[in-house]
Amino acid sequence: MKTLLSLAVGLGLGTLSSTLLAEPDGRALFEQYCTVCHDRGMEYPGTARLADRWPQQPSLLDREPLEPDYVRRIVRHGLNMMPPFRPSEISARELDALARYLSTSAAQKNKIEDKEK
Ligand code: HEC
Repeated sequence: MKTLLSLAVGLGLGTLSSTLLAEPDGRALFEQYCTVCHDRGMEYPGTARLADRWPQQPSLLDREPLEPDYVRRIVRHGLNMMPPFRPSEISARELDALARYLSTSAAQKNKIEDKEK
């Protein structure tokens, strides 16, 4: 058994399972699915649309905390021009990570961003 295990680890299966078990990265998911419409700048339709209601923080990147349940609902059902995302596109675990990311403060979101640079 021990030999089998070290063989598996040797073959890199350890890395594989830790990748599968790792928490999805909310920030990375936001970049993948949301910044096409919600990045900073009026050329992004989500940002342009939300500028009416949130002139100081039209991009969700600069937004103060959103309620996780609100994020989950909008992502699954869409909102006017915003399309809904099915679980086959964004899984429940990924949506939780996204909602967690968007429920942090603007300062915290910017800190996460700086860390990645
Ligand atoms: C095709 C463009 C598009 C994409 C992709 C998109 N959105 Fe949106 N989103 C919009 C638009 C446009 C609005 C404003 C809708 C309205 O109120 O008219 C919006 C609104 C929202 C709101 C409501 C904000 C508020 O102030 O009430 C949330 C939350 C949101 N989007 C989250 C997301 C997340 C998370 C993703 C990625 C999974 C995403 N959106 C992807 C276009 C998009």
